[in-house]
Amino acid sequence: MTMISQISNRAYIDGTWHKLENSFEVRNPFDQSLVANVADCGAQEAKIALEAAVEAFKYWKNKTGFERAAVMHRWAQLILDHQEELGRTMTLEMGKPIVEGRGEAVYTSTAITWYAEAATRIAGEFVPSRFPNKRAFSRPEAVGVVYGITPWNFPAAMLARKVGPALAAGCTFILKPAEQTPLTALYLAELWEQAGGLKGVFQVLPCQDPVQVSKVLMDDPRVRKITFTGSTEVGRLLYGQSAKTLKRISLELGGHAPFIVFDDADVELAAATVAGSKYRNAGQQCVATNRVYVSEKLKTEFENALAKATSSIKMGNPLELDTNLGPLVDAATLAKVKDHVADAVSKGARVVSGGHATGGLFFEATVLSDVKPGMKILEEETFGPVAPIVTFHSEEEAIQAANNTEYGLAAYIWTKDLGRAWRVAEALEYGIVGVNDAVPSAMAPQAPFGGMKNSGVGREGGMWGLDAFLEVKYISMVLP
Ligand code: SIN
Repeated sequence: MTMISQISNRAYIDGTWHKLENSFEVRNPFDQSLVANVADCGAQEAKIALEAAVEAFKYWKNKTGFERAAVMHRWAQLILDHQEELGRTMTLEMGKPIVEGRGEAVYTSTAITWYAEAATRIAGEFVPSRFPNKRAFSRPEAVGVVYGITPWNFPAAMLARKVGPALAAGCTFILKPAEQTPLTALYLAELWEQAGGLKGVFQVLPCQDPVQVSKVLMDDPRVRKITFTGSTEVGRLLYGQSAKTLKRISLELGGHAPFIVFDDADVELAAATVAGSKYRNAGQQCVATNRVYVSEKLKTEFENALAKATSSIKMGNPLELDTNLGPLVDAATLAKVKDHVADAVSKGARVVSGGHATGGLFFEATVLSDVKPGMKILEEETFGPVAPIVTFHSEEEAIQAANNTEYGLAAYIWTKDLGRAWRVAEALEYGIVGVNDAVPSAMAPQAPFGGMKNSGVGREGGMWGLDAFLEVKYISMVLP
Protein backbone atom coordinates (compact mmCIF):
# COMPACT_ATOMS: atom_id res chain seq x y z
CA MET A 1 0.00 0.00 0.00
CA THR A 2 1.52 3.28 -1.11
CA MET A 3 0.44 5.22 1.93
CA ILE A 4 1.88 2.70 4.40
CA SER A 5 5.25 2.72 2.67
CA GLN A 6 5.24 6.53 2.75
CA ILE A 7 4.67 6.73 6.47
CA SER A 8 6.88 3.79 7.48
CA ASN A 9 9.88 4.67 9.63
CA ARG A 10 8.64 8.21 10.10
CA ALA A 11 7.29 10.26 12.95
CA TYR A 12 5.24 13.39 12.32
CA ILE A 13 6.91 16.17 14.29
CA ASP A 14 6.64 19.94 13.78
CA GLY A 15 4.97 19.52 10.40
CA THR A 16 7.80 17.34 9.07
CA TRP A 17 8.11 13.61 8.49
CA HIS A 18 11.17 12.63 10.53
CA LYS A 19 12.90 9.46 9.38
CA LEU A 20 14.39 7.76 12.44
CA GLU A 21 17.09 5.15 12.68
CA ASN A 22 15.34 3.20 15.39
CA SER A 23 12.26 1.36 14.37
CA PHE A 24 9.89 -1.38 15.50
CA GLU A 25 7.76 -3.84 13.58
CA VAL A 26 4.01 -3.85 13.23
CA ARG A 27 2.79 -7.34 12.35
CA ASN A 28 -0.58 -8.41 11.00
CA PRO A 29 -2.44 -10.38 13.71
CA PHE A 30 -4.08 -12.48 10.98
CA ASP A 31 -0.90 -14.14 9.67
CA GLN A 32 1.98 -12.40 11.48
CA SER A 33 3.25 -10.91 8.20
CA LEU A 34 5.18 -7.66 8.47
CA VAL A 35 2.92 -4.66 7.85
CA ALA A 36 5.61 -2.00 8.30
CA ASN A 37 8.61 -0.84 10.24
CA VAL A 38 7.65 2.16 12.29
CA ALA A 39 9.78 4.98 13.69
CA ASP A 40 10.58 4.39 17.35
CA CYS A 41 10.58 7.76 19.10
CA GLY A 42 12.37 8.50 22.34
CA ALA A 43 13.10 11.40 24.67
CA GLN A 44 14.78 13.48 21.98
CA GLU A 45 11.78 13.40 19.64
CA ALA A 46 9.49 14.17 22.58
CA LYS A 47 11.55 17.27 23.41
CA ILE A 48 11.44 18.53 19.80
CA ALA A 49 7.71 17.89 19.61
CA LEU A 50 7.11 19.69 22.88
CA GLU A 51 8.94 22.84 21.75
CA ALA A 52 6.96 22.76 18.48
CA ALA A 53 3.66 22.31 20.33
CA VAL A 54 4.44 25.20 22.68
CA GLU A 55 5.25 27.48 19.71
CA ALA A 56 2.23 26.34 17.71
CA PHE A 57 -0.08 26.94 20.67
CA LYS A 58 0.74 30.67 20.48
CA TYR A 59 -0.95 31.02 17.11
CA TRP A 60 -3.43 28.11 17.06
CA LYS A 61 -5.22 29.33 20.20
CA ASN A 62 -5.57 32.79 18.63
CA LYS A 63 -7.16 31.54 15.41
CA THR A 64 -10.88 32.09 15.48
CA GLY A 65 -13.07 29.07 16.03
CA PHE A 66 -14.19 29.50 12.41
CA GLU A 67 -10.59 29.27 11.14
CA ARG A 68 -9.91 26.16 13.22
CA ALA A 69 -13.19 24.66 12.01
CA ALA A 70 -12.25 25.21 8.35
CA VAL A 71 -9.10 23.04 8.65
CA MET A 72 -10.97 20.44 10.66
CA HIS A 73 -13.78 20.21 8.10
CA ARG A 74 -11.21 19.62 5.34
CA TRP A 75 -9.59 16.94 7.50
CA ALA A 76 -12.93 15.24 8.18
CA GLN A 77 -13.68 15.17 4.44
CA LEU A 78 -10.29 13.63 3.62
CA ILE A 79 -10.87 10.97 6.29
CA LEU A 80 -14.17 10.15 4.63
CA ASP A 81 -12.54 10.08 1.19
CA HIS A 82 -9.90 7.67 2.53
CA GLN A 83 -12.22 5.38 4.46
CA GLU A 84 -11.21 2.36 2.41
CA GLU A 85 -7.46 2.87 3.02
CA LEU A 86 -7.95 3.79 6.66
CA GLY A 87 -10.19 0.77 7.24
CA ARG A 88 -7.62 -1.44 5.57
CA THR A 89 -4.80 0.01 7.66
CA MET A 90 -6.73 -0.73 10.87
CA THR A 91 -7.49 -4.26 9.68
CA LEU A 92 -3.86 -4.92 8.81
CA GLU A 93 -2.45 -3.66 12.08
CA MET A 94 -5.01 -4.88 14.61
CA GLY A 95 -7.20 -7.43 12.85
CA LYS A 96 -10.68 -5.89 12.98
CA PRO A 97 -12.98 -6.92 10.12
CA ILE A 98 -12.64 -4.50 7.19
CA VAL A 99 -16.34 -3.64 7.36
CA GLU A 100 -15.85 -2.46 10.95
CA GLY A 101 -12.65 -0.62 9.96
CA ARG A 102 -14.44 1.31 7.22
CA GLY A 103 -17.26 2.07 9.64
CA GLU A 104 -14.72 3.35 12.13
CA ALA A 105 -13.26 5.70 9.52
CA VAL A 106 -16.75 7.17 9.04
CA TYR A 107 -17.19 7.39 12.83
CA THR A 108 -13.84 9.22 13.01
CA SER A 109 -14.84 11.70 10.33
CA THR A 110 -18.17 12.29 12.08
CA ALA A 111 -16.39 13.12 15.34
CA ILE A 112 -14.00 15.57 13.68
CA THR A 113 -16.94 17.23 11.89
CA TRP A 114 -18.93 17.49 15.13
CA TYR A 115 -16.03 19.20 16.88
CA ALA A 116 -15.32 21.45 13.88
CA GLU A 117 -18.87 22.71 14.28
CA ALA A 118 -18.42 22.99 18.04
CA ALA A 119 -15.31 25.15 17.50
CA THR A 120 -17.57 27.84 16.06
CA ARG A 121 -19.84 27.72 19.12
CA ILE A 122 -17.34 28.19 21.94
CA ALA A 123 -18.70 31.21 23.76
CA GLY A 124 -18.48 32.88 27.14
CA GLU A 125 -21.24 34.36 29.25
CA PHE A 126 -22.20 37.75 30.54
CA VAL A 127 -21.96 37.44 34.35
CA PRO A 128 -24.33 39.67 36.34
CA SER A 129 -22.88 42.07 38.91
CA ARG A 130 -24.26 43.55 42.16
CA PHE A 131 -22.56 46.83 41.32
CA PRO A 132 -24.08 49.10 38.67
CA ASN A 133 -20.65 50.27 37.45
CA LYS A 134 -19.25 46.77 36.89
CA ARG A 135 -19.44 44.47 33.87
CA ALA A 136 -18.24 40.89 33.99
CA PHE A 137 -17.72 38.03 31.56
CA SER A 138 -16.55 34.47 31.43
CA ARG A 139 -14.19 33.62 28.59
CA PRO A 140 -13.33 30.00 27.66
CA GLU A 141 -9.69 29.58 26.72
CA ALA A 142 -7.70 26.58 25.48
CA VAL A 143 -5.99 24.61 28.25
CA GLY A 144 -2.65 24.48 26.41
CA VAL A 145 -0.41 21.72 25.09
CA VAL A 146 -2.05 18.31 25.41
CA TYR A 147 -0.42 14.89 25.59
CA GLY A 148 -2.72 12.15 24.29
CA ILE A 149 -2.29 8.39 24.52
CA THR A 150 -4.68 6.36 22.36
CA PRO A 151 -5.57 2.65 22.36
CA TRP A 152 -5.28 -0.01 19.66
CA ASN A 153 -8.87 -1.28 19.74
CA PHE A 154 -10.36 1.80 18.03
CA PRO A 155 -7.17 3.38 16.70
CA ALA A 156 -8.92 6.11 14.70
CA ALA A 157 -12.18 6.81 16.54
CA MET A 158 -10.64 7.11 20.01
CA LEU A 159 -8.04 9.46 18.55
CA ALA A 160 -10.81 11.60 17.06
CA ARG A 161 -12.67 11.75 20.39
CA LYS A 162 -9.58 13.36 21.90
CA VAL A 163 -7.92 15.32 19.09
CA GLY A 164 -11.26 16.66 17.80
CA PRO A 165 -12.22 18.64 20.93
CA ALA A 166 -8.61 19.56 21.73
CA LEU A 167 -8.03 21.18 18.33
CA ALA A 168 -11.47 22.77 18.36
CA ALA A 169 -10.68 24.38 21.72
CA GLY A 170 -7.36 25.78 20.41
CA CYS A 171 -5.01 23.31 22.12
CA THR A 172 -2.03 21.70 20.41
CA PHE A 173 -1.77 17.93 20.62
CA ILE A 174 1.12 15.45 20.90
CA LEU A 175 -0.07 11.92 20.30
CA LYS A 176 1.51 8.65 21.40
CA PRO A 177 -0.52 5.96 19.60
CA ALA A 178 -0.63 2.37 20.87
CA GLU A 179 2.42 0.42 19.70
CA GLN A 180 0.13 -2.10 17.94
CA THR A 181 -1.56 0.58 15.79
CA PRO A 182 0.76 3.50 14.97
CA LEU A 183 0.05 3.39 11.23
CA THR A 184 -3.58 4.50 11.54
CA ALA A 185 -2.43 7.51 13.58
CA LEU A 186 0.32 8.35 11.09
CA TYR A 187 -2.15 8.02 8.25
CA LEU A 188 -4.44 10.51 10.00
CA ALA A 189 -1.46 12.86 10.42
CA GLU A 190 -0.77 12.61 6.69
CA LEU A 191 -4.40 13.60 6.02
CA TRP A 192 -4.13 16.43 8.56
CA GLU A 193 -1.16 17.76 6.60
CA GLN A 194 -3.09 17.45 3.31
CA ALA A 195 -5.96 19.37 4.93
CA GLY A 196 -3.59 22.28 5.53
CA GLY A 197 -3.09 21.53 9.22
CA LEU A 198 -0.54 23.89 10.70
CA LYS A 199 2.80 22.55 11.86
CA GLY A 200 3.19 21.68 15.51
CA VAL A 201 -0.57 21.65 16.10
CA PHE A 202 -0.99 17.87 15.76
CA GLN A 203 2.05 15.62 16.06
CA VAL A 204 2.40 11.83 16.16
CA LEU A 205 5.21 10.10 18.05
CA PRO A 206 5.02 6.33 17.64
CA CYS A 207 7.14 4.33 20.06
CA GLN A 208 7.40 0.75 21.20
CA ASP A 209 8.02 1.59 24.83
CA PRO A 210 6.30 4.80 25.92
CA VAL A 211 8.41 5.43 29.03
CA GLN A 212 10.98 7.84 27.52
CA VAL A 213 8.44 9.89 25.57
CA SER A 214 6.00 9.97 28.46
CA LYS A 215 8.62 11.02 30.99
CA VAL A 216 9.53 14.14 29.00
CA LEU A 217 5.91 15.13 28.53
CA MET A 218 4.59 14.19 31.95
CA ASP A 219 7.40 16.01 33.77
CA ASP A 220 7.13 19.25 31.83
CA PRO A 221 4.79 21.88 33.30
CA ARG A 222 4.10 23.28 29.82
CA VAL A 223 2.05 20.17 29.02
CA ARG A 224 -1.20 21.24 30.64
CA LYS A 225 -3.36 18.21 30.00
CA ILE A 226 -3.13 14.45 29.61
CA THR A 227 -5.88 12.46 27.93
CA PHE A 228 -5.64 8.67 27.97
CA THR A 229 -7.64 5.62 26.98
CA GLY A 230 -6.39 2.28 28.26
CA SER A 231 -6.18 0.13 31.34
CA THR A 232 -7.13 1.23 34.85
CA GLU A 233 -3.63 0.26 35.99
CA VAL A 234 -1.88 2.64 33.57
CA GLY A 235 -4.54 5.29 34.19
CA ARG A 236 -3.68 5.27 37.90
CA LEU A 237 0.00 5.67 37.09
CA LEU A 238 -0.66 8.68 34.83
CA TYR A 239 -3.01 10.20 37.42
CA GLY A 240 -0.18 10.03 39.96
CA GLN A 241 2.39 11.43 37.53
CA SER A 242 0.08 14.34 36.67
CA ALA A 243 -0.07 15.49 40.27
CA LYS A 244 3.46 16.96 40.19
CA THR A 245 2.56 19.58 37.58
CA LEU A 246 -1.20 19.54 38.27
CA LYS A 247 -2.11 18.63 34.71
CA ARG A 248 -5.77 18.47 33.76
CA ILE A 249 -6.64 14.85 33.21
CA SER A 250 -9.18 12.79 31.28
CA LEU A 251 -9.09 9.03 31.71
CA GLU A 252 -11.13 6.44 29.82
CA LEU A 253 -10.27 3.16 31.53
CA GLY A 254 -11.37 -0.43 31.84
CA GLY A 255 -14.92 -1.71 31.81
CA HIS A 256 -16.77 -4.84 32.82
CA ALA A 257 -20.17 -4.25 31.29
CA PRO A 258 -23.18 -6.19 32.55
CA PHE A 259 -26.08 -6.92 30.20
CA ILE A 260 -29.35 -7.64 32.04
CA VAL A 261 -32.03 -9.50 30.10
CA PHE A 262 -35.38 -9.26 31.91
CA ASP A 263 -38.14 -11.86 31.66
CA ASP A 264 -40.32 -9.67 29.40
CA ALA A 265 -37.57 -9.52 26.75
CA ASP A 266 -38.08 -10.53 23.16
CA VAL A 267 -35.55 -13.35 23.41
CA GLU A 268 -34.41 -13.41 19.77
CA LEU A 269 -33.93 -9.65 19.70
CA ALA A 270 -32.25 -9.60 23.11
CA ALA A 271 -29.81 -12.32 22.01
CA ALA A 272 -29.04 -10.41 18.81
CA THR A 273 -28.44 -7.26 20.88
CA VAL A 274 -26.11 -9.09 23.29
CA ALA A 275 -24.25 -10.56 20.30
CA GLY A 276 -23.94 -7.08 18.77
CA SER A 277 -22.43 -5.72 21.95
CA LYS A 278 -20.28 -8.75 22.75
CA TYR A 279 -18.70 -9.83 19.46
CA ARG A 280 -18.10 -6.45 17.77
CA ASN A 281 -14.34 -6.04 17.31
CA ALA A 282 -13.97 -9.60 18.71
CA GLY A 283 -15.06 -8.31 22.11
CA GLN A 284 -12.07 -5.97 22.25
CA GLN A 285 -14.01 -2.90 23.38
CA CYS A 286 -14.02 -1.14 26.73
CA VAL A 287 -17.82 -1.00 26.44
CA ALA A 288 -18.22 -4.67 25.44
CA THR A 289 -20.68 -6.78 27.39
CA ASN A 290 -18.59 -8.87 29.77
CA ARG A 291 -21.33 -10.45 31.93
CA VAL A 292 -24.80 -11.47 30.76
CA TYR A 293 -27.45 -11.64 33.52
CA VAL A 294 -30.54 -13.48 32.27
CA SER A 295 -33.83 -13.99 34.10
CA GLU A 296 -33.97 -17.58 35.36
CA LYS A 297 -37.28 -17.96 33.47
CA LEU A 298 -35.55 -17.41 30.10
CA LYS A 299 -32.37 -19.40 30.77
CA THR A 300 -32.63 -22.20 28.21
CA GLU A 301 -34.46 -20.19 25.58
CA PHE A 302 -31.89 -17.39 25.80
CA GLU A 303 -28.85 -19.70 25.76
CA ASN A 304 -30.15 -21.34 22.60
CA ALA A 305 -30.93 -18.00 20.97
CA LEU A 306 -27.46 -16.61 21.73
CA ALA A 307 -25.80 -19.82 20.53
CA LYS A 308 -27.83 -19.51 17.31
CA ALA A 309 -26.72 -15.89 16.92
CA THR A 310 -23.06 -16.93 17.26
CA SER A 311 -23.49 -19.63 14.62
CA SER A 312 -23.98 -16.96 11.97
CA ILE A 313 -20.74 -15.17 12.91
CA LYS A 314 -18.13 -15.86 10.26
CA MET A 315 -14.60 -16.05 11.59
CA GLY A 316 -11.78 -15.59 9.10
CA ASN A 317 -9.51 -13.26 7.19
CA PRO A 318 -10.56 -9.79 8.38
CA LEU A 319 -9.86 -8.35 4.93
CA GLU A 320 -12.74 -10.39 3.51
CA LEU A 321 -16.05 -8.58 3.35
CA ASP A 322 -18.16 -11.32 4.90
CA THR A 323 -15.88 -11.82 7.93
CA ASN A 324 -17.37 -10.60 11.19
CA LEU A 325 -14.87 -12.06 13.66
CA GLY A 326 -11.17 -11.48 13.09
CA PRO A 327 -8.14 -12.55 15.14
CA LEU A 328 -7.38 -11.07 18.54
CA VAL A 329 -4.76 -8.39 18.53
CA ASP A 330 -1.90 -10.29 20.15
CA ALA A 331 -0.81 -13.37 22.06
CA ALA A 332 -1.33 -11.78 25.49
CA THR A 333 -4.97 -10.96 24.64
CA LEU A 334 -5.56 -14.51 23.39
CA ALA A 335 -3.91 -16.00 26.48
CA LYS A 336 -6.26 -14.03 28.78
CA VAL A 337 -9.35 -15.17 26.86
CA LYS A 338 -8.20 -18.81 27.03
CA ASP A 339 -7.46 -18.45 30.72
CA HIS A 340 -10.91 -16.98 31.49
CA VAL A 341 -12.68 -19.81 29.65
CA ALA A 342 -10.51 -22.54 31.19
CA ASP A 343 -10.96 -21.06 34.68
CA ALA A 344 -14.75 -20.89 34.28
CA VAL A 345 -15.00 -24.43 32.91
CA SER A 346 -12.78 -25.79 35.69
CA LYS A 347 -15.17 -24.23 38.23
CA GLY A 348 -18.33 -25.68 36.69
CA ALA A 349 -19.31 -23.48 33.71
CA ARG A 350 -20.74 -25.20 30.64
CA VAL A 351 -19.72 -24.34 27.07
CA VAL A 352 -22.92 -23.77 25.08
CA SER A 353 -21.14 -22.80 21.86
CA GLY A 354 -17.59 -22.11 20.71
CA GLY A 355 -15.02 -22.31 23.47
CA HIS A 356 -11.90 -22.99 21.44
CA ALA A 357 -8.81 -21.25 20.18
CA THR A 358 -8.66 -22.33 16.55
CA GLY A 359 -5.09 -21.49 15.63
CA GLY A 360 -3.14 -18.29 15.21
CA LEU A 361 -4.78 -15.55 17.24
CA PHE A 362 -8.34 -16.76 16.64
CA PHE A 363 -10.84 -17.62 19.34
CA GLU A 364 -14.39 -18.74 18.55
CA ALA A 365 -17.46 -16.67 19.42
CA THR A 366 -18.32 -18.38 22.70
CA VAL A 367 -21.29 -18.72 25.03
CA LEU A 368 -20.76 -20.05 28.56
CA SER A 369 -23.57 -21.03 30.90
CA ASP A 370 -23.81 -21.82 34.64
CA VAL A 371 -21.30 -19.10 35.36
CA LYS A 372 -20.92 -18.32 39.07
CA PRO A 373 -19.28 -15.69 41.29
CA GLY A 374 -15.66 -16.62 41.97
CA MET A 375 -14.89 -17.24 38.31
CA LYS A 376 -12.33 -14.81 36.84
CA ILE A 377 -14.59 -13.93 33.93
CA LEU A 378 -17.05 -12.26 36.35
CA GLU A 379 -14.30 -10.20 37.95
CA GLU A 380 -11.84 -9.17 35.23
CA GLU A 381 -12.27 -7.58 31.81
CA THR A 382 -11.93 -10.39 29.24
CA PHE A 383 -11.47 -8.32 26.05
CA GLY A 384 -12.47 -11.28 23.91
CA PRO A 385 -15.48 -12.94 22.23
CA VAL A 386 -16.85 -14.80 25.26
CA ALA A 387 -20.34 -14.27 26.72
CA PRO A 388 -20.76 -15.75 30.23
CA ILE A 389 -24.39 -16.25 31.26
CA VAL A 390 -25.48 -15.91 34.90
CA THR A 391 -29.14 -16.20 35.96
CA PHE A 392 -31.10 -14.03 38.40
CA HIS A 393 -34.52 -14.14 40.11
CA SER A 394 -35.39 -10.50 40.83
CA GLU A 395 -34.72 -6.98 39.56
CA GLU A 396 -32.94 -6.09 42.83
CA GLU A 397 -30.68 -9.12 42.57
CA ALA A 398 -29.76 -8.23 38.97
CA ILE A 399 -28.98 -4.60 39.83
CA GLN A 400 -26.91 -5.62 42.84
CA ALA A 401 -24.89 -8.13 40.79
CA ALA A 402 -24.41 -5.65 37.93
CA ASN A 403 -23.10 -2.96 40.28
CA ASN A 404 -20.87 -5.36 42.21
CA THR A 405 -17.63 -4.35 40.47
CA GLU A 406 -14.94 -1.69 40.68
CA TYR A 407 -15.82 -0.67 37.09
CA GLY A 408 -18.57 1.61 35.84
CA LEU A 409 -18.21 2.35 32.14
CA ALA A 410 -21.13 0.80 30.22
CA ALA A 411 -24.13 -1.35 31.15
CA TYR A 412 -27.01 -2.71 29.09
CA ILE A 413 -30.55 -3.88 29.73
CA TRP A 414 -33.23 -5.52 27.61
CA THR A 415 -36.86 -4.98 28.57
CA LYS A 416 -40.13 -3.79 27.03
CA ASP A 417 -41.27 -2.33 30.36
CA LEU A 418 -40.66 1.44 30.25
CA GLY A 419 -40.96 1.85 34.01
CA ARG A 420 -38.39 -0.84 34.61
CA ALA A 421 -36.12 0.60 31.91
CA TRP A 422 -35.97 3.97 33.69
CA ARG A 423 -35.75 2.49 37.18
CA VAL A 424 -32.88 0.15 36.33
CA ALA A 425 -31.04 2.67 34.13
CA GLU A 426 -31.09 5.09 37.08
CA ALA A 427 -29.92 2.43 39.58
CA LEU A 428 -26.97 1.26 37.51
CA GLU A 429 -23.67 2.84 38.58
CA TYR A 430 -22.40 3.29 35.04
CA GLY A 431 -21.52 6.23 32.80
CA ILE A 432 -23.34 4.76 29.79
CA VAL A 433 -26.53 2.67 29.80
CA GLY A 434 -27.87 1.05 26.64
CA VAL A 435 -31.57 0.15 26.85
CA ASN A 436 -32.25 -2.43 24.13
CA ASP A 437 -29.23 -0.81 22.44
CA ALA A 438 -26.04 -2.79 21.74
CA VAL A 439 -23.89 0.15 20.68
CA PRO A 440 -24.98 3.38 22.37
CA SER A 441 -21.58 5.05 21.86
CA ALA A 442 -20.60 4.28 18.27
CA MET A 443 -21.20 7.10 15.78
CA ALA A 444 -22.34 9.34 18.64
CA PRO A 445 -19.60 11.96 19.14
CA GLN A 446 -22.30 14.26 20.49
CA ALA A 447 -23.02 11.99 23.49
CA PRO A 448 -21.15 11.84 26.80
CA PHE A 449 -18.73 8.91 26.90
CA GLY A 450 -16.93 7.87 30.06
CA GLY A 451 -17.10 5.89 33.23
CA MET A 452 -17.86 6.03 36.94
CA LYS A 453 -15.76 4.44 39.71
CA ASN A 454 -12.48 2.91 38.42
CA SER A 455 -13.52 3.25 34.79
CA GLY A 456 -12.26 6.78 34.49
CA VAL A 457 -12.22 10.46 35.15
CA GLY A 458 -14.18 12.95 33.04
CA ARG A 459 -16.21 12.55 29.90
CA GLU A 460 -15.43 12.59 26.20
CA GLY A 461 -18.02 13.44 23.59
CA GLY A 462 -20.30 16.40 23.10
CA MET A 463 -19.77 19.68 24.90
CA TRP A 464 -18.59 17.67 27.94
CA GLY A 465 -15.64 16.50 25.88
CA LEU A 466 -14.92 20.03 24.69
CA ASP A 467 -15.05 21.52 28.21
CA ALA A 468 -12.27 19.12 29.16
CA PHE A 469 -9.91 21.15 26.94
CA LEU A 470 -11.06 24.60 28.08
CA GLU A 471 -10.22 26.80 31.05
CA VAL A 472 -12.68 29.48 32.11
CA LYS A 473 -11.34 32.97 32.61
CA TYR A 474 -13.44 35.49 34.54
CA ILE A 475 -13.02 39.11 33.44
CA SER A 476 -14.48 41.81 35.67
CA MET A 477 -14.40 45.46 34.62
CA VAL A 478 -15.19 48.65 36.51
CA LEU A 479 -16.54 51.22 34.06
CA PRO A 480 -14.49 54.43 33.98
C1 SIN B 1 -14.52 1.41 23.21
O1 SIN B 1 -15.21 0.56 23.71
O2 SIN B 1 -13.31 1.44 23.44
C2 SIN B 1 -15.13 2.45 22.31
C3 SIN B 1 -16.34 1.96 21.67
C4 SIN B 1 -17.16 2.99 20.95
O3 SIN B 1 -16.81 4.16 20.83
O4 SIN B 1 -18.22 2.62 20.50
